[in-house]
Amino acid sequence: MENIIVLDFGGQYSQLIARRVRDLRVYSELLPYDTPIEIIKSKKPSGIIFSGSPSSISAKEVDYAQTANNSGTEVVSAGINRSATKKEMLAAGKESLMAKKEVLAAEKKSPVVSSEIFKLGVPVLGICYGMHLITYLLDGKVTSSGSNEYGRTEISLNRESPLFEGLKEAEICWMSHRDSVSVLPENFKIIASTTSLPIAGLENSRDKIFGIQFHPEVVHTPSGMHILENFLFNICGCSPLWTMMSIIENQVSIIKDTVKNGNVICGLSGGVDSTVAALLVHKAVGKKLTCIFVDHGLLRLDEGRQVEKTFKKNFKINLIHIKAKERFLSELKGVTDPEKKRKIIGKEFIRVFEEEAKKIKDVDYLVQGTLYSDVIESGTRDAAKIKSHHNVGGLPADMKIKLIEPLRQLFKDEVRKMGIELGLAEDIVRRQPFPGPGLAIRIIGEVTEERLDILQAADRIVIEEIKSAGLYEKIWQSFAVLPAIKSVGVMGDERTYAYPIAIRAVTSEDAMTADWVKLPYEVLEKMSRRIINEVEGVNRVVYDISSKPPSTIEWE
Ligand code: XMP
Repeated sequence: MENIIVLDFGGQYSQLIARRVRDLRVYSELLPYDTPIEIIKSKKPSGIIFSGSPSSISAKEVDYAQTANNSGTEVVSAGINRSATKKEMLAAGKESLMAKKEVLAAEKKSPVVSSEIFKLGVPVLGICYGMHLITYLLDGKVTSSGSNEYGRTEISLNRESPLFEGLKEAEICWMSHRDSVSVLPENFKIIASTTSLPIAGLENSRDKIFGIQFHPEVVHTPSGMHILENFLFNICGCSPLWTMMSIIENQVSIIKDTVKNGNVICGLSGGVDSTVAALLVHKAVGKKLTCIFVDHGLLRLDEGRQVEKTFKKNFKINLIHIKAKERFLSELKGVTDPEKKRKIIGKEFIRVFEEEAKKIKDVDYLVQGTLYSDVIESGTRDAAKIKSHHNVGGLPADMKIKLIEPLRQLFKDEVRKMGIELGLAEDIVRRQPFPGPGLAIRIIGEVTEERLDILQAADRIVIEEIKSAGLYEKIWQSFAVLPAIKSVGVMGDERTYAYPIAIRAVTSEDAMTADWVKLPYEVLEKMSRRIINEVEGVNRVVYDISSKPPSTIEWE
């Protein structure tokens, strides 16, 4: 399978680059910038894209004279801006100089990749910081202009470059940078410029190395997709073959090879991810699959019964429904820390699966509907840990059963497309996501039966009203949250001291970023009235108007 590797230097759009490549039907993987070259090589990439970064490489000017000293020690006067002459560089030997530059940059914590990457013979495209890095590693010069250039900019393009084939001579693009390339590396030419930026794009046509100062992945660069298309199809020689059907076939064959003759269990929640994962595995192993639906008692009102009914009606897959409310609630008793809650739930899920696996016999594998966004949010080497998703960071260390996660590389919208391809009914495909730990992470503080009842009742009203306003499928998620505070109110002529309910409704593409929904006042008003009148223990309703970032979608 053709693969475009996006090396992530920490830029805010890194993931978006990978998504755009996938939108063009070429598989793309996002890897941390310090992934060893051997691993990158083993993936046989057709092309490599260097992402942007909040870091600056211009601060890493190297004192060439000192790096090249004869003692061989790496004595460096950090930050000294004394560029070497060509002669000095040659004397030092370019190879060792490059290696030392990498050490230097690493010491000063700017993310760099080994210059060995250029020896793989694979086309490279550097975006923004990525272009600076190419320049830096290949001995051009990057300087800091001292002021930011940010936003919509008109750019002149050299249309002879294969990167800009079919574009107009002047295009609009999105800039976001402080540094710029002031001296081209050897064998490079300029392919784009703006009135304030003479080098806004560069190319080494012999080695197929390209750099652009602007961001083709954002919608504000209208011809951005065309540029990425040119890179993929003209320069890397890829073909748009990564279709849903090909992903399904590929996964089915991997699952068959992995499972061999044993049995498999699948943790089913009733949501789209685990259902799609189950269908995929069923396609691969048929009757050897048993789905286990663990009702931890933290589901929405009546959800357990609904899930079982829908699943039995639509699929011919073995299903075991485990009712484990007491067990989960007793483990959660007295626990208020969100990370602890997630870990307890993650562990308990696995314990139930292991017990069931023993009963079925010959089960080595558990299927989970883990998504790419769960993996990223649970913290990878390059992304900070935001929260331990119960099915990733929340898993117990001594877990005996092995995992199959066929959706681990996919985003939610891609999983939805896969669901449709596998014949899943629209109403399941369009279901709003519901987190594995369920209402436990929407009840701030301790989870008790009383608080669970309050939240289930309020949540039902929120969903009913969102559905009756025709908004359910337009919104990523809409739900109620129960904070751990009480406030004073007056009902009838009586003073009340009761909980508030917070309503949360967000739009999102992939849960990595989200915006709060500007719900019509009438809808908010009706929800508020109904919740306060119908749910005992609540005397106030508030609406959460925070986006992600800086908030997250769930409150815990
Ligand atoms: P946050 O709160 O991190 O949520 O912005 C992003 C998306 O992930 C869902 N979520 C989870 N899903 N297990 C899950 O299966 C979890 O532990 C978990 N935590 C958050 C959340 O509902 C939203 O869609």
